[in-house]
Amino acid sequence: MKIKSATFVKSATSPEHYPRDGRLEVAFLGRSNVGKSSLINSLLGVKGLARTSNTPGRTQLINFFLINESFYFVDLPGYGYARVPSEIKKDWGPMVEKYLATRPNLVLSIHITDSRHEPTQLDLLMREWLESRGKPFVIVATKADKLSSNKLRANLNRASAVYGRKELIPYSSVTRKGADRIWKEIVKQISGQSAPISG
Ligand code: GTP
Ligand code: MG
Repeated sequence: MKIKSATFVKSATSPEHYPRDGRLEVAFLGRSNVGKSSLINSLLGVKGLARTSNTPGRTQLINFFLINESFYFVDLPGYGYARVPSEIKKDWGPMVEKYLATRPNLVLSIHITDSRHEPTQLDLLMREWLESRGKPFVIVATKADKLSSNKLRANLNRASAVYGRKELIPYSSVTRKGADRIWKEIVKQISGQSAPISG
């Protein structure tokens, strides 16, 4: 997809702050520090649009980015990082769960995992929960550039087995390898539903 514009629109903590223009949304979710914000920036080819950091817990609100005046990328705060202050952790579950469970505009969830690590208990819970919602989702394994091709293949097989034989898309926000496959999934879901959703 040719990116003509990509702009930060707003941050939200609850539904009354979500955009009301009815455009479709693609959400990026996963454990803290796996590279959600980096994936957004590199898919769009825009450096620094979504804030990234070496310190886990950088994204703490639901951030909406409008792409080509047409649909939204939604950057969600990461889960599973112990050192995030407890008052933030307490709000994470309800904030993200409410968005994922109730947002009619959401047409695709991109569940991001770190290709170097075995899926955690929280990753599995998230995957099961996404499956139970019956809405489209894909799993992307980031930081693929940090592994040799043999190690990457072995890790993808292991993770796919843990996730119940679900296919994983390997990705690197450094080389952008894997971007075409991810865009294909995004375009499929966005063009599958053309009518904007009201409310
Ligand atoms: P939170 O918002 O804190 O949940 O983190 P996040 O999932 O948005 O991660 P973020 O994009 O901020 O990236 C975390 C760190 O990983 C940063 O230092 C990135 O530069 C690095 N990183 C992300 N993706 C990749 C990748 O594909 N390859 C490499 N080598 N580094 C990456
Ligand atoms: Mg982030």
